[in-house]
Order: sequence, then structure tokens, then C-alpha cells
Amino acid sequence: MTTQTGRTALVDELIAIAGPGAVLTDAADMEPYAVDWRRMFFGTPLCVVRPAATQEVADIVRACARHGAAVVPQGGNTGLAGGATPDGSGGEVVLSLQRMACIRALDPVGMTMEVEAGAILQTVREAALEQGRMFPTGIGAEGSATIGGIVSTNAGGVNVLRYGMTRALVLGLEVVLADGTVVNGLRRLRKDNAGYDWKQLFIGSEGTLGIVTAAVLRLVPAPQHSVTAFIAVPDIDAALAFYSLAQSRIGDTLSAFELISATSVGLQEKHFGLKSPASGGQWFILLEGASSLAGIGEAVESLLAEAFESGLAVDGVAAASQQQARALWEIRERITEAEGREGRSVKHDISVPVTAIPAFLTDAGKALEELSPALRLNVFGHLGDGNLHYNVIMAGPGDDGAAINRTVHDAVLRHGGSISAEHGLGQYRVGEWLRTKTPAEQALSAALKQTLDPAGLLNPGKVLPRRDRG
Ligand code: FAD
Ligand code: MLT
Ligand code: ZN
Repeated sequence: MTTQTGRTALVDELIAIAGPGAVLTDAADMEPYAVDWRRMFFGTPLCVVRPAATQEVADIVRACARHGAAVVPQGGNTGLAGGATPDGSGGEVVLSLQRMACIRALDPVGMTMEVEAGAILQTVREAALEQGRMFPTGIGAEGSATIGGIVSTNAGGVNVLRYGMTRALVLGLEVVLADGTVVNGLRRLRKDNAGYDWKQLFIGSEGTLGIVTAAVLRLVPAPQHSVTAFIAVPDIDAALAFYSLAQSRIGDTLSAFELISATSVGLQEKHFGLKSPASGGQWFILLEGASSLAGIGEAVESLLAEAFESGLAVDGVAAASQQQARALWEIRERITEAEGREGRSVKHDISVPVTAIPAFLTDAGKALEELSPALRLNVFGHLGDGNLHYNVIMAGPGDDGAAINRTVHDAVLRHGGSISAEHGLGQYRVGEWLRTKTPAEQALSAALKQTLDPAGLLNPGKVLPRRDRG
């Protein structure tokens, strides 16, 4: 779509489909939808359209296709890879799912829940808890992130260790394809081998293959008893040995094993006045055990005693109340915000095999030191998943973000890892994906995109490089 007349005609069609109140064209109204959470990517959309029903989504996608306009799906706009931000052309349509936020059904016996794409993750989790059930995907942004967003990014978070990524928690999906076809796969089945499991293609595809309009989620029993502990460990080898011990002693109930560096803890204190409840180590572990059965408190106590005795832990506390547990979690969950206040950083969301973490840290640290000795690291993440947020705080404007990226990712590849564990590629990592994936994997991805979105109108330039549309 090139002409101004064409653009105006499309906006008129979108208003006819969704109603005048559901289409934003004023720059100030569109601003929250045009910039990403970290304020790294800035776009200029043609308009923002906020449909209220699946059929409206289908009609919008069809209208955009007719006019050759790209569609950028958006949920809570909390993504960390610029996936939901339109480009600066003034021609892309942001399709916000926020108004489609209905919880359609909750079955506590079958342990499933059907929700619309715009439902807020926290609302969904709270609704499940009211029925004694839990939706396990838990992330720091859950107050704004939507079900469509977590499905489309295959979000991870702090409980992946026990329950898997979002991919493992979706039983059914409804999607709108690039030509406006609605595919309804909202089945509540735990077992369904009737053909290809096509929903998995859309999970984690960041809006580049289809628009998620609703999902059936898998719930688990809400644990009745839980213990949270914050433990200082002397070094990274001890952190891994402690993890292995925790798996041996309380593995069935281990629901989080988070790694936090001393720098991350220091940033919390500096920016939020949050004091560390443990000291004396280079690293800290936030551990959670949770169960339907009583006795988890004693099990964690005995695990900690063994860790202290063997020198794997040097200091720490176990929360004595829900309020204390919340306070410990706050230290973990506010790291991203504290890092933002510290200044410009180059974020990484990498994974390596769990046992390769110590060697990766040594290797990447050395390579960065050679690149620029003044860089500082803010490392934290999901140790049990081998997923580190290996973030580099820039020393000054002269630092080259792209070179830092390449240096870290090269170390990741040397240790058999991935350049994105849970945040996705968005537009932030497309160049690095091109540099690091094999030609065969790139060709397969391009073939999938060509099949499902031949005109290249669904979220162009995200996950895969933007195609020249002539
Ligand atoms: P958006 O940001 O709006 O969109 C994300 C991507 O999904 C975009 O590519 C967009 O086009 C696409 N999309 C959105 N909705 C749809 C839809 N209905 N159909 C098709 N495509 C769609 N992530 C983790 O994995 N683990 C964490 O622990 C974690 N912690 C976080 C903590 C903070 C403080 C923040 C800010 C982010 C965190 N994230 C984490 C990032 C995480 O990916 C997002 O928060 C979340 O998954 C995105 O949901 P959203 O609704 O905001 O999606
Ligand atoms: C986290 O684990 O806190 C998130 O993935 C957010 C981040 O990486 O900043
Ligand atoms: Zn994370």
C-alpha cells in the first residue's frame, strides 16, 4: 500500500469493521502502542485497531491484505525484543488484542481454561487460583502481559523448571491466518494425535504466522504449601552443586531455582533500597519448593542444612510467611527495572546446557574483557533451565552494542547454546539469528513463512528479515 488515498480508504474500512472508537489515528493516542517497553524501538503506525471479537480480527486482516498493509499484532506490549513495535513507514497497522480479554470457561476438574488472547496473565492466574488451580507461566510482567503475547513468544519465566514453557501449557488454539481464515482448534484435550499438532507452529512465532485470538490452557493443582528461600553461595560451581543437591532432595517439589549475581542485588539496593537478606557470596539463589502435601517446610530446611554443612551455601533465609516470601521474590522480579535505571545495557537472553554455565561465564567474561575492560555485567536468570540474562551495562556512548552482542553470542555457540531462550527474536535479534543459524534451518523457516504468509504481511521484519515486497 503506497498512496495516501489507499491509506485513508483502509482506515475507513477498519472503522466500519470495528467501530470508530476502536481505531486510533492520533499520534498521541497511538504512542503507547508505537514504542516498546524498553523504549529501544520507535514506530509510526498508520493506525491502531482494537477489535472486540475474533470475526472482527478476521475482517481486519482480510482488509489489510486487500490493501497490502502489514499487520503488527500486539498484546500488553511488554515484550523485550521489539516484536510488537511497527516500523517507521507510517503504513503498518497495529492490531491490539487488549479488548478481547474474556475468560470464557474454567473447568477445575478437567483442569483447563479457555481465554481470549487479550486476557491479562495475572487475571488468568488469579481466576485459576480461586478454583484451587494454577496456570504456571509466571513472569515479572504478568500484570500487563496477555495470553496472546505469552503464547506468541512462548514465554518462560520462573516456573519452567517444573511445568515447562508456555508451549507445554497450551491444549488448544484459535488463530486467524494471513488470508483472514479463522482456524478453531479450541479443544480441551490432553491427548490429541489426530494429525499434525499445528498449534505448535503458532506458539512462539511472534505474530509472524497468524494472529492468536483465543487459547485453551492447561492448569495444574495449586500447591497448598510452599517455601521460598534466598541463599548466598560462594561461587558458580557451588550454585550448580546446590542445584543438583536440591534436585536429589526435593526435585518433585522444586518449582523455582533462580540465579542472581551480587551485581543484581547491588542494583536493587542502589535503586530501590531493597536490602539483600543474605551476604557473603558472589551469587545468590532464590529457591522455591511447592506441594499439595504438607512437609515441604521440613524438606527444604533439611536441604539447606546439608548445603550449609557442605559449604555450598554460606548465608541465607527461608521465608516464614507469605509476606516474607513476596519480599524475597520482589528482589528477583525488580532486577529488570533496576537495570533500566542504571543506564543503557545490552540485553541477552541466552541458554546453554546447565552444566556448561560455569565454563560459559568464564569464557564470555574473558572475551568481553578483551573487547572493553570497562563493561559491567548484570547476570541473573533461570539456572535450572540453563537460561541466563547475561546483560552488559555500557560504560559509555563509545561502546559498540553490536560487537558486545556478537562477542556474547559467539561464546554461547561455543558452549552449544541458543541466542534466545525465552524472549524470542522480535526485531532485536534478527541479524544475530541470520549470522548464527545454519542455512538449512533458515531455509526451513523461510518456507514456513512463505506457506502461511505468502504476501509477507504478518509482522514483517520480526523473527525473519523483512522481505523486499517490490
Ligand atoms: P507483546 O509485547 O504485545 O507482544 C510480544 C510478541 O507477540 C510480538 O511479536 C507480538 O507481535 C506478538 N503477539 C502479541 N499478541 C499476539 C497475538 N494475539 N497473536 C499473535 N501475535 C501476538 N519473558 C519471559 O519469557 N520470561 C520472563 O521471566 C519475562 N519476564 C519479564 C519481565 C519484565 C519486567 C518484562 C517487561 C518482560 C518480561 N518478559 C519475560 C518478556 C515477555 O516476553 C513478555 O512479557 C510477554 O510474553 C509478552 O506478552 P505481551 O502481551 O506483552 O506481548
Ligand atoms: C526475567 O527473567 O526477569 C526476565 O526474562 C526479564 C529480563 O530478562 O529482563
Ligand atoms: Zn527470564
